[in-house]
Amino acid sequence: MTKIILEVKNLKKTFGQFVAIEDISFSLEEGQILGFLGPNGAGKSTTIYCILGLVDPDFGSINIFGEDVKKNRSEILKQVNYASAEYSLPWNLSLWECLLVYGRLYEVWDLKKRITELLDVFEMSHLKTKAIRDLSFGQRARGNLCKALLNKPKLLLLDEPMASMDPDVVDKGISLIKQIQIEEKMSILYTSHNMWEIEEMASDVVFINHGKIIAQGSPLQLTQQVLKGEAAEPNLRDVFIQLSRQQ
Ligand SMILES: Nc1ncnc2c1ncn2[C@@H]1O[C@H](COP(=O)(O)OP(=O)(O)OP(=O)(O)O)[C@@H](O)[C@H]1O
Ligand SMILES: [Mg+2]
Repeated sequence: MTKIILEVKNLKKTFGQFVAIEDISFSLEEGQILGFLGPNGAGKSTTIYCILGLVDPDFGSINIFGEDVKKNRSEILKQVNYASAEYSLPWNLSLWECLLVYGRLYEVWDLKKRITELLDVFEMSHLKTKAIRDLSFGQRARGNLCKALLNKPKLLLLDEPMASMDPDVVDKGISLIKQIQIEEKMSILYTSHNMWEIEEMASDVVFINHGKIIAQGSPLQLTQQVLKGEAAEPNLRDVFIQLSRQQ
């Protein structure tokens, strides 16, 4: 039977008079990578902050591993992780120190071995003594991904994780995340504005705009529905443009 890892139901969030999320419901199965797409300001990051319990929704429920996040947040979050190019690791610590601190917070077993493995996988071993402030954008983003995988999360929330990486590193990043995802049966909610990345990573996509879901399906199904043709290959770039301009 399919196991539901994340279930978001009728989520609503307002900031004053402004409705950031009107009504969003979706679920994520074990081992699924779900692309979470939408134009700037659509409500993607706000939804992710609600899932992490950093923003309090006005209405709706969020269940992770079948439990209400509000009731058992710290236990649940031990098996969850998050990365975004928007947020940096602590500026003054070295990469190694950062990973040690986060690894201890997550109570990672055999931590130094895990950090060494991840730095090796992300080709960052030679940068481990550098302070975060001295890393390039793309290197910091790779450091964030190492942090996000430290605790072998069952649920990984990735909010434009590779936004500042060069295409070669993105290509390697995609292969690495996919490989780790299969090995560890991770479920991933994946946000990006790079449609090629989503086509490579996601089996299914939820497209939101103005805080509402306006389309969903596999990349190929969405392409056929939205572009109204017999497309044989996904074309999420054209789907994105068309859906964004509809309203
Ligand atoms: N703390 C806040 N106070 C007021 N408005 C906010 C706040 N946080 C987000 N918003 C608004 O909510 C809307 C959704 O923002 P959000 O960051 O979720 O968008 P997004 O889909 O992640 O966009 P992007 O693709 O640019 O990252 C935006 O219009 C934003 O201005
Ligand atoms: Mg965002």
